[in-house]
Amino acid sequence: PVKAVIFDLDGVIVDTAHYHFLAWKRLAKELGVDLTEQQNERLKGVSRMRSLEIILSLGGITLSDHEKEKMANRKNSWFVDYVERMAPEEIFPGVKQLIHELKGKGIKIGLASASKNAKTVIQLLHIQNEFDAVVDGTMITHSKPHPEIFLLAAHKLGVEPKDCVVFEDAEAGVEAALAAGMKCVGVGSSEQLHKANKVISKTGEFKISALEEFQV
Ligand code: BG6
Ligand code: MG
Repeated sequence: PVKAVIFDLDGVIVDTAHYHFLAWKRLAKELGVDLTEQQNERLKGVSRMRSLEIILSLGGITLSDHEKEKMANRKNSWFVDYVERMAPEEIFPGVKQLIHELKGKGIKIGLASASKNAKTVIQLLHIQNEFDAVVDGTMITHSKPHPEIFLLAAHKLGVEPKDCVVFEDAEAGVEAALAAGMKCVGVGSSEQLHKANKVISKTGEFKISALEEFQV
């Protein structure tokens, strides 16, 4: 039976994935790289430093660790500027209702985000109390597609990985969920997220009756 649902944050609960993209695009431009939306798919779900390294490799650029640190901080300050102007209304339609329905069925709710800003974001959205467990980028050593973040979330929730369903918008996140032995609902394009057990275009579209497809 499904005992827990674990949500990714950026691009699943709120459109902060777009803010990450805008901030990376701005930084990439300064570095002489024109970051496309398709290339940006590779940045989704992975850590800040890993994202920067992907952009640098796209431009064939080498930077010292010190310069990389500075660039990553620049990108983050722009991202934080966007986030601070965010309102609770920006949470995707239907997400809160979905969480409440799941809770009504006795299902635990987890958050597993690679972002070190995840706690700030959920506080700004006033949803920090909705989660039975939160794992963010400050608590892990391996980025998605490594399963660490989801395994830690399951551990904190006190459920076995096989009884968890993950909602993810990133290819790396889908891979991480499957590598953790969990089921995964992809949120976005079925082409990009074809490895997921099921793909929907928006989180709020999910009907909890569909959880039956995941019963083992
Ligand atoms: C993930 C995003 O949730 O968090 C990535 O999908 C982002 O785009 C990563 O790079 C790290 O976020 P932050 O806020 O720690 O830079
Ligand atoms: Mg995401």
